[in-house]
Amino acid sequence: MSTTIFESLKEEHDRILSFCGYVRNTCANCVENHNIPIAEFRSMVQFIRDYADGHHHGKEEKILFKEMIDRLGGIAVNLVQHGMLVEHDWARLLVTDLEKALDEYEKTGSTMSMLDIIANAVGYCNLLERHIEKENTVVYPYAEKNLDPDVVQKMTELAEKMNREDFFMERYSYTAKE
Ligand SMILES: [Fe+2]
Ligand SMILES: [Fe+2]
Repeated sequence: MSTTIFESLKEEHDRILSFCGYVRNTCANCVENHNIPIAEFRSMVQFIRDYADGHHHGKEEKILFKEMIDRLGGIAVNLVQHGMLVEHDWARLLVTDLEKALDEYEKTGSTMSMLDIIANAVGYCNLLERHIEKENTVVYPYAEKNLDPDVVQKMTELAEKMNREDFFMERYSYTAKE
């Protein structure tokens, strides 16, 4: 049997969680060495924009969450519109603030901008780790239980068309341990 949209989204979650482990390790090194590897952080911002947000959140928003809102109503609308989508927006805000802090650090090298870099990067990881836990244990199982199998099949086909895992895995490889 081929992989369903839920399984492929959960595989993407695993990659994002490994990335978060990598971000935490990098931030811990920054505290120890009192130095920010700017290019490395810029590349992490790029990964978040390309993969975690553009690719993964894009699939959730355009395919899964759309079907949940259109077909399930009530609890699903609450879970998605007042929960998951709000958290996707928080994540975007944290990345924007991370980028501003990187710009500031490049200009001034100040300790305050270093603090903002670490706070926003670790804040992003905290948010995404909790968000993923909710999706894996509540949101996806609810959708899987309540959406018709033919809708799941249609979503799986659409998600496969959007799949660019090879492209991303060639470009980025983050593991939790350094
Ligand atoms: Fe999400
Ligand atoms: Fe997700």
